[in-house]
Amino acid sequence: MQHKKLLLVIMILAIIAVGCYVIWHNHQQKPKVSSASPYGNGAPVDATPTSTTAQAFDTKQFSIEEPTSPWVIVNKLRPLPNGYAPNDLSAPPVALRLGKGTDEMKMRAEAGSALKELFGGANVAGLKLLLVSGYRSQASQKALHDMYVAQKGAAAADTDSARAGYSEHQTGMAVDVGNASRTCEVDPCFANTPEGKWLKDNAYKFGFVIRYPENKQSVTGYVYEPWHIRYVGKDLAKQIYDSGKTLEEFFGLPSAPDYK
Ligand code: DAL
Ligand code: ZN
Repeated sequence: MQHKKLLLVIMILAIIAVGCYVIWHNHQQKPKVSSASPYGNGAPVDATPTSTTAQAFDTKQFSIEEPTSPWVIVNKLRPLPNGYAPNDLSAPPVALRLGKGTDEMKMRAEAGSALKELFGGANVAGLKLLLVSGYRSQASQKALHDMYVAQKGAAAADTDSARAGYSEHQTGMAVDVGNASRTCEVDPCFANTPEGKWLKDNAYKFGFVIRYPENKQSVTGYVYEPWHIRYVGKDLAKQIYDSGKTLEEFFGLPSAPDYK
């Protein structure tokens, strides 16, 4: 009888031991749960995350010095090489203010195809854009700037129009955009038109930045130009849009309110 009791106790202890082991083992196998999981409670946390870490933007992908680079920065302190002209200019297949053989309707190839996409995007939104002024040679920029000086004096001209050799229109990657009905063309009121608003919100999706934003005259040297967009490619355009910075600020360059 005593022997039987002992056997029973051993069996009970063995069952308890096996039960404890099973519970412990199950607990070890269960995925860890974090309250910080984006999937909510109960979702497993990946112990080896692969794609969640944001890559830092590479600010050295393209030159900001080379006139042919999509990232070239031209301002009152950074003229283009004297007489520079791009070698892949053509009029993009979009609505043009002047005939397609006119130099001012031309852009560099990559910028022109991006502009075609942008005009298409505006069209989807029910808006009709117009290419008002694209490439301008050093000579035509001089004629334009001289005209502004004659109209409003040198100081006012310099905050609206670049001197010859200092305009990014000469790169073939900047363009003034208007609307098909030609209201507020190259005028501050363009910002309040549906086309101007759309451009501000959407240009970056097609690789363009609003190059002379509002309240940045102390950095860019120019008053707000809601019509002037500059092709830099989609990656940089998004960075600039998200940061709210000018090209000068983004690349840590000195502000360029005035000529040297
Ligand atoms: N309006 C811009 C600054 C230019 O003339 O290039
Ligand atoms: Zn312009």
